[in-house]
Amino acid sequence: MKILECRNLTKEYLSGDGVIKAIDDISLSFEQGEFVAITGPSGSGKSTLLHNLSSLENPTGGEIFYNGESLKKYNDNQLSILRRRRFGFVFQSYNLVQELTGYENILLPVMLDKKKPDEEYINKIIEVLNIGDRLSHLPSALSGGQQQRIAIARAIANKPSILFADEPTGNLDGKTGREVLSLLKYVSHEFGITLIMVTHDLSVAEQADRILTLEDGKIVRDTKAEAESK
Ligand SMILES: Nc1ncnc2c1ncn2[C@@H]1O[C@H](COP(=O)(O)OP(=O)(O)O)[C@@H](O)[C@H]1O
Ligand SMILES: [Mg+2]
Repeated sequence: MKILECRNLTKEYLSGDGVIKAIDDISLSFEQGEFVAITGPSGSGKSTLLHNLSSLENPTGGEIFYNGESLKKYNDNQLSILRRRRFGFVFQSYNLVQELTGYENILLPVMLDKKKPDEEYINKIIEVLNIGDRLSHLPSALSGGQQQRIAIARAIANKPSILFADEPTGNLDGKTGREVLSLLKYVSHEFGITLIMVTHDLSVAEQADRILTLEDGKIVRDTKAEAESK
């Protein structure tokens, strides 16, 4: 099933020197449960693509479909509900709330949604991510790898259908990065979550089912399209 699709997606920014086409006419679709890596050189538009696919930013042109429905019909409030309930986000810099404990950070999206936490599910996430002994700590008392595991737990606490990750291992040492990557893979597989991950690191991208390569805002390679055309 197609969970997310974009058609003729374009994103332009105005800069001092004129218009930058950060995303240049991209059409793509993502299957539910797929693990896709978006790779390419710095400045090629990876983060911009992720932000537009996840409605954190508004595209300049083109259309995005979630579960077959055009997001053009959604107002800002409906888009923020979609992001809160159906999408999870993991960033390079963890972005935890510094004043809240690990556990409070994990529950934050559920609380924002005024829902009762599914304790069985939350406990399972905590067990899988091996953060049970870090729940009462503030982020400042945690290592980078521990903070990112808390951030992953937070990102999936609402049982999203898509997890968007932008350079999730970018601030971690090699070994910790590999552990976090394998946990991301594991939780997305275990809970049937589509994983769309930006990375400039080819050894990280190679872990994915499918690799998209960006250059100057265009897709120059899609391993899935290549496999299908064989
Ligand atoms: N908010 C912005 N305003 C102006 N230009 C931007 C903005 N965000 C990104 N860009 C430009 O768009 C291009 C793609 O950036 P980005 O998506 O961050 O690349 P990547 O994540 O692949 O390094 C770059 O030329 C960058 O300078
Ligand atoms: Mg980026």
